[in-house]
Amino acid sequence: MTIDAIRNRRSVREYKSDQVRDEDITEIIKAAQFGPTAHNNQAIEFVVVREQATKDEIYGITGSDETQRFVSHAPVLLVMVTDKEKTPMPIEDLSAASENVFLEAVSRGLGSVWKHITAEQDPQIKELLGIPGNFTLINVIPIGYAASAPEPKSDYDFQPEKIHQEKW
Ligand SMILES: Cc1cc2nc3c(=O)[nH]c(=O)nc-3n(C[C@H](O)[C@H](O)[C@H](O)COP(=O)(O)O)c2cc1C
Repeated sequence: MTIDAIRNRRSVREYKSDQVRDEDITEIIKAAQFGPTAHNNQAIEFVVVREQATKDEIYGITGSDETQRFVSHAPVLLVMVTDKEKTPMPIEDLSAASENVFLEAVSRGLGSVWKHITAEQDPQIKELLGIPGNFTLINVIPIGYAASAPEPKSDYDFQPEKIHQEKW
C-alpha cells in the first residue's frame, strides 16, 4: 500500500557503494514522469549522474558542507530539470515529481534524499551538466542503498491536533 512506502521513506544521508541497476533508475524516472504537472506540460527532463568527478563537482557547487557529503558518496545523482518556457509552475511540478521519485525508490529498497539547490547554484549545475538555460531545478536527488537510515514513520508521528474540521 502507498502508505507503507510513505512511512518507510526517510531522508537517507549514508549510502553503500553498491551500484543501482539501470532498470531501477528507469522505473524511478517513470514514476516521476507519471506525476502531475501544471496543465499537463510534461516538461521535466532527467540527467542521471554516476561519474565520481561530476558528483564531486556538484558537491562543491552545493557548498562542500561535510553533513552533505552524501552528494558525492551516493552511487547515483538524479537531476530533474523542467523547461521554464513550458510550465507556469516549475517548483510545483518538480516537487510533485520528487515525491514520486522518493516513493518509487523506497519501494525498490533504495534510499534517497532531497538535496536543495539554490537559485545561485542553479546556473552552475546547468553549466556543469550542459543543460540549456531555459531549464531550472530545485534539487538533486541522491539514490542508492542505505548504509543507515532513520526509522520509518509511525503513528507516533501522526499529529491529529493539526486537523481542523470545516473551519480553523
Ligand atoms: C524543500 C526541502 C529541502 C530539503 N533540503 C535538504 C538538503 O539540502 N539537505 C538535506 O540533507 N536534506 C534536505 N531536505 C530533507 C529534510 O531535511 C527532511 O525531509 C526532514 O528532515 C524530515 O526527515 P525525513 O525526510 O527523514 O522524514 C529537504 C527537504 C525538503 C522538503
